Amino acid sequence: MLTSATEMLQKARAGKYAVGQFNINNLEWTKAILLTAQELNSPVILGVSEGAGKYMTGFETVAAMVAAMDKSLGITVPVALHLDHGSYEGCYKCIKAGFTSIMFDGSHFPIDENVAKTTELVNVAHGLGLSIEAEVGAIGGEEDGVIGKGECADPDECKQIADLGVDFLAAGIGNIHGVYPANWEGLSFETLEAINKKVGDMPLVLHGGTGIPDDMITKAISLGVAKINVNTECQLVFAEATRKYIEAGKDQQGKGFDPRKLLAPGFEAIKAKVKEKMELFGSVNKA
Ligand code: 13P
Repeated sequence: MLTSATEMLQKARAGKYAVGQFNINNLEWTKAILLTAQELNSPVILGVSEGAGKYMTGFETVAAMVAAMDKSLGITVPVALHLDHGSYEGCYKCIKAGFTSIMFDGSHFPIDENVAKTTELVNVAHGLGLSIEAEVGAIGGEEDGVIGKGECADPDECKQIADLGVDFLAAGIGNIHGVYPANWEGLSFETLEAINKKVGDMPLVLHGGTGIPDDMITKAISLGVAKINVNTECQLVFAEATRKYIEAGKDQQGKGFDPRKLLAPGFEAIKAKVKEKMELFGSVNKA
């Protein structure tokens, strides 16, 4: 059942669990995540980056695929179709295409410009019944081989953006996208606690969910994180399962080259990973 992410995240925040945002890349990804959510009776958020949207030939294709799949698979758990790290223009494209939720990533703008653009998009999104996420403090990652510690957001800036009426807020707390380097210093719970105090009961979003140790995830949830984004981990298990299938020569046995067979191990690997995360996040049976 397609819906905005507002209610599911308010419930998660109040119930001290988190809803997973799993990024999608194609039909297999979408089907694996939707079926797992339904099997576990869990709410779920399908994340679509601008790059993945382009890869799938545009946000309209994505929205049409997700809506049709949700219906044809008989999905009854709440599902939000969410733009991940959207640009200003990307937000408008997704609103038009029929997404139920958007993220405006204005973290690279000076705070005044982030405020102005976020305010405008909050009004447009809410007028149409969509939920909206904003970001303060850029989430780090690997750039030109240099791996940095993720930035930590300023709690006062978080409060300023939260007060604009966004439904959930991504705040950097030392998290980064992709695999964490061996010398990663971990999440800054000091920052998270300070932000949580400032923003009241606003659901907080933890990006870069791949590879964060389980105990840190649990602690982050206890401090107000109600949405956790996972992307790279699903890609890694999909690639590993596919590689094993091919290295075992299974694509050359019988009709093993049939894409429905070739992609099946990766599909099952995504299902298992999503199940593991939903259990860890505590969203099972919370639909
Ligand atoms: P990972 O790829 O590190 O799991 O991060 C996902 C994410 O935060 C998407 O916005």
